[in-house]
Amino acid sequence: MYASDSVPDDLERTAFRKAEKKYKLYYQDTYRTPKKKKQPKPVDLSEVLDFKSVQELYDRKAELPSGIVPVRCGLDRPVFAIENRPGFYFIPGALTIEQQCQWIKESLTSFPQPPNRTNHNAFYGPINDLFIAAKERKVLLAEENPNSEYNPSITTRDAQAWKFCEEHEASSKGNSRKSISASVLLRKLRWSTLGLQFDWSKRNYDISLPHKKIPETLCQLAKKLAAPAMPLGEDFQPEAAIVNYFGLGDMLGGHLDDMEADWSKPIVSMSLGCKAIFLLGGKLREDPPLAMFLRSGDVVLMAGEARECFHGVPRIFTDAENAEIVPLEQQLSHEVDSSFLEYIQTSRININIRQVF
Ligand code: OGA
Ligand code: MN
Repeated sequence: MYASDSVPDDLERTAFRKAEKKYKLYYQDTYRTPKKKKQPKPVDLSEVLDFKSVQELYDRKAELPSGIVPVRCGLDRPVFAIENRPGFYFIPGALTIEQQCQWIKESLTSFPQPPNRTNHNAFYGPINDLFIAAKERKVLLAEENPNSEYNPSITTRDAQAWKFCEEHEASSKGNSRKSISASVLLRKLRWSTLGLQFDWSKRNYDISLPHKKIPETLCQLAKKLAAPAMPLGEDFQPEAAIVNYFGLGDMLGGHLDDMEADWSKPIVSMSLGCKAIFLLGGKLREDPPLAMFLRSGDVVLMAGEARECFHGVPRIFTDAENAEIVPLEQQLSHEVDSSFLEYIQTSRININIRQVF
């Protein structure tokens, strides 16, 4: 469901696909001036709903755009709903700068740690301390495995073990062993899973996989944020979370999250880092989606009917003007470790928290 590169022909013409193409990153043709750095094609953002300005209107007690309504709830900040998308809630700037930094750091250090799985598991097996290894310019090197030569029934994945080592070690051992730098692996980190582990190949939760509970502070935060979308008198139970990592040009294709049992419970989705465009479609891919900006600190809730709506992220912005991460950069520049700042300047992280049962 997350594959967006190979879309079947019949999907090419849906309204959702058209909107994805409208906002997706394309580069200018550079054949005339081959020496120039490639430039992103300009994109018309005039139809993108901006909840930051909605909140500014709300704060000034001015009229809101038609179809946008403030929601009364127990939270200490404004929450907005969309009239024709029941169950969808937008909380602009729900996370403080300190919270944003905290969850960015956890998303890069503790969340991808085994037994949590990442997109790299299928090929490399569990990888420990990827972020540290990238900072230390380590290289992941295929271990020699004498058995694999004698036993053709062992698949590459089972036979191959990988281990971080110093750059010079990898090169001194000649070209015979496969290697990949930790920084490339970090850039190619696309998802990690917390709590109950989601098996992407089966598109289901595999409760037999070893897992740790979602960190208590994240649970408490998700429960508090879920409140506006919760059925009266019920408590949100965070059991799983998917962390998505986006670099420039990465997108999350239109999809539904339909593997959780109770759709009356919200998905709590937190945005961190560079600004993105989120598409909220209808129940059919043919329904024209609504485009909106997601900034660092924004939180979206999808419950009830909204859980049946196609949605995706066709674009992230990493240029200074559009990324809108200045306060975050200032906060992260106080860190001794500059690698968090460097990572987030060209990336977006999304943590979406789910009750599975
Ligand atoms: C998801 C999802 C949205 C986002 O992971 O299912 O819809 O904002 N993420 O990245
Ligand atoms: Mn989703």
